[in-house]
Amino acid sequence: MSRAAAPPLAPERADGFAEDVIAWQQREGRHGLPWQGTRDAYRVWLSEVMLQQTQVATVLAYYGRFLQRFPDVQSLAAAPLDDVLALWSGLGYYSRARNLHRCAQAVVAEHGGRFPGQAAALAQLPGIGRSTAAAIAAFCFGERVAILDGNVKRVLSRVLGFEDDLARASAIEALWAEATALLPAREVGVYTQGLMDLGATLCTQRAPACLHCPVAPRCVARREGRPERYPVKTRRLKRGRRTHALLWLRQGTRWWLVQRPATGVWAGLWSLPEYDSADTLQLLADGWRGEGEWLEPVQHALTHFDWTLQPLAWTLPPRAALPAGVPEGRWCEPVEALALGLPAPIRKLFEAVATSDN
Ligand code: ADE
Repeated sequence: MSRAAAPPLAPERADGFAEDVIAWQQREGRHGLPWQGTRDAYRVWLSEVMLQQTQVATVLAYYGRFLQRFPDVQSLAAAPLDDVLALWSGLGYYSRARNLHRCAQAVVAEHGGRFPGQAAALAQLPGIGRSTAAAIAAFCFGERVAILDGNVKRVLSRVLGFEDDLARASAIEALWAEATALLPAREVGVYTQGLMDLGATLCTQRAPACLHCPVAPRCVARREGRPERYPVKTRRLKRGRRTHALLWLRQGTRWWLVQRPATGVWAGLWSLPEYDSADTLQLLADGWRGEGEWLEPVQHALTHFDWTLQPLAWTLPPRAALPAGVPEGRWCEPVEALALGLPAPIRKLFEAVATSDN
């Protein structure tokens, strides 16, 4: 991927788009979030990583607590991974927490405890992709670099009427170049926040609020009358495949169940805690009391992908505390568990054991 510095503003791009975004952000954008109003790269980096797959409202509940326990990159680097995972517990996508810890250690070991001041160097660190690196560099160091997260892809592809299929790497690369060409000469931080805010609040996937949008007059998608058509992204024809791990935590006769988020697969149902891979879960469990065994994988077909779930049955000793990295949930006797709203494959898993135990 090319990481060239932003070119000078091309005249056809310097037509006030960025200025409109900046003015709107200052007037109507989000202000006063705890990671705004600081140029401390540690704080900004932490917020950007937490926000990668998680909504602002959820992150707010974790961010302050995390900073209280780890006020700087040194304290985070020196902490046991278990403590980091414990504070992350419930935010999901635990590879983010592991990379966060590795990144803090790299910043201390390789950069003397200071985050590098340029996006290109930030992007070399664990867990910091190109867009996150650019966000940190723009917010903290005022570097003129473009971000291109999911929200910004949507905003820019609509404004530009960008027709290329974003399932293709070449199209993504072309959109990066467009994003770079649109950068303002100054106030890159406000502009970057403005694009994020536009994508999160007005230029939403299904119901864009074009009437309130500061760039509607120059938006190609708006002119065409069908903003929802963008971004253009074909589904891969091949069905996807995903593998996750499940934790079947037991203590005495009880099982630990968690309620799934209100959106997404199995929304709102009760299930077993899910981890992004068997490796992640095994690494966590290596530090736990008790013992466990991997059970036969559960196969489940969803609309767009085949899902393999690898259950780890783990038995805690009586009275042992809930181990680090286990999300919020509740202990249930098997009969109580079977009375809850469970996804079909989880119910099958439970019933297999309930019958074999009798
Ligand atoms: N999502 C990603 N980064 C963000 C930020 N800085 N503010 C609000 N939402 C975000």
